[in-house]
Amino acid sequence: MLVVTWETDGFNNCVVLDGKPYVYARSEAGEFVLHARCSHRGGPLHLATFCPDSTRLVCPWHSRATSVTKALRAGIPAVRRGDRVTAVFDVPATVTAEVEYRPMSPDLAS
Ligand code: FES
Repeated sequence: MLVVTWETDGFNNCVVLDGKPYVYARSEAGEFVLHARCSHRGGPLHLATFCPDSTRLVCPWHSRATSVTKALRAGIPAVRRGDRVTAVFDVPATVTAEVEYRPMSPDLAS
């Protein structure tokens, strides 16, 4: 297990573990840590928008929709305190965590 803390917004709003980016996302159903790469072909889910009923995230590359509820259930354990989030990732503690910037969809950044 690896515990990482990073910023919810701004220049350090994304943590990258073994090349996999994660961001803190907000939805009507709740806030969660989102794997920011689409499972279809790696599209930028940090730029996803919500479908009209806000139940699914739509990838900007090929418009596949992902259930927000499913993302919340399969979520990465995390807690937000102010403008920082601390999450526990199921990876070896030896994995290097890099913090960087990802532009966020207005739908996810609130
Ligand atoms: S990469 Fe996301 S739908 Fe294709």
